[in-house]
Amino acid sequence: MSANPVAEHSIIQFDHVQKSFPGHQAISDLDFTIARNEIVSVVGVTGCGKSTMFNLTLGLFAPTQGTVRVQGHDPYAEFDWFRRKVAVVFQDARLLPWRTALQNVCVGMKFAGVEKSEWEPRARDWLARLGLSGREDSYPHQLSGGQRQRVSLARAFAVDPELILCDESFSALDEITAKNLRAEFVELVRSGGKTGVVITHNIGEALSLGNRVLVLRAPGHLSDDVGIPADASDADREALRTRILAAMEPAGSGDVGPSGALTTAGRSAS
Ligand SMILES: Nc1ncnc2c1ncn2[C@@H]1O[C@H](COP(=O)(O)OP(=O)(O)OP(=O)(O)O)[C@@H](O)[C@H]1O
Ligand SMILES: [Mg+2]
Repeated sequence: MSANPVAEHSIIQFDHVQKSFPGHQAISDLDFTIARNEIVSVVGVTGCGKSTMFNLTLGLFAPTQGTVRVQGHDPYAEFDWFRRKVAVVFQDARLLPWRTALQNVCVGMKFAGVEKSEWEPRARDWLARLGLSGREDSYPHQLSGGQRQRVSLARAFAVDPELILCDESFSALDEITAKNLRAEFVELVRSGGKTGVVITHNIGEALSLGNRVLVLRAPGHLSDDVGIPADASDADREALRTRILAAMEPAGSGDVGPSGALTTAGRSAS
């Protein structure tokens, strides 16, 4: 049995991660754990390091310092191992314009190394689950923005990943469509036993999606980690919104100075 119950149940662990690009520090000290089956939102002002955090989780580059682990593995060093474990959905659906909805979902499975005989039945199943029965042969330009995003979600879920990352996936949609798709996303993550991490600029969305909100402040560190009680009342949510907004404000007392010099807001992983 593992001596570390946090590690055993965690799917993402950032241990004092720093990430610098030439002349610029994007992440100064990011330290958090996300457990299996959580749905966690990530908020923070533009440029605070949210997408960089995803790119580190996806293994697109290595941290400058610290460690990133996904299911206990290094996503950068073991990039191939991760192909079927993690899926990402972006703000724009990023579909291939010359491929149909069905083919776009199949392409995701092809790159993930799913057995070819499974592509079409799985693609049809996921398109149906996302309300696109009958639109399998439509090209992206024949679909609305919301429908294209449904194809993008189908492509992600069809790979059957452990972890789904959404980078502002619901931001470009009208509020009604976004609300419906968010609810479907939560249901699919929960019923599939998956873990979801969603970057958003919409605090209402963050509060309605999952069980926790991570608030980042530039340069890339945690300024608050807000649990959302399942039975939170409207008044509770309003109080949480105020707390999150305060945590998003540029550095104030007890956090980082204007230079980004760190006084840690994260929690120790050990
Ligand atoms: N590949 C890169 N090379 C150089 N700088 C980068 C690179 N990627 C990100 N950055 C910088 O790191 C900082 C954090 O960028 P990131 O994209 O993570 O922000 P974000 O929180 O996702 O912002 P937004 O809400 O606008 O999407 C920014 O200042 C950005 O310019
Ligand atoms: Mg971003």
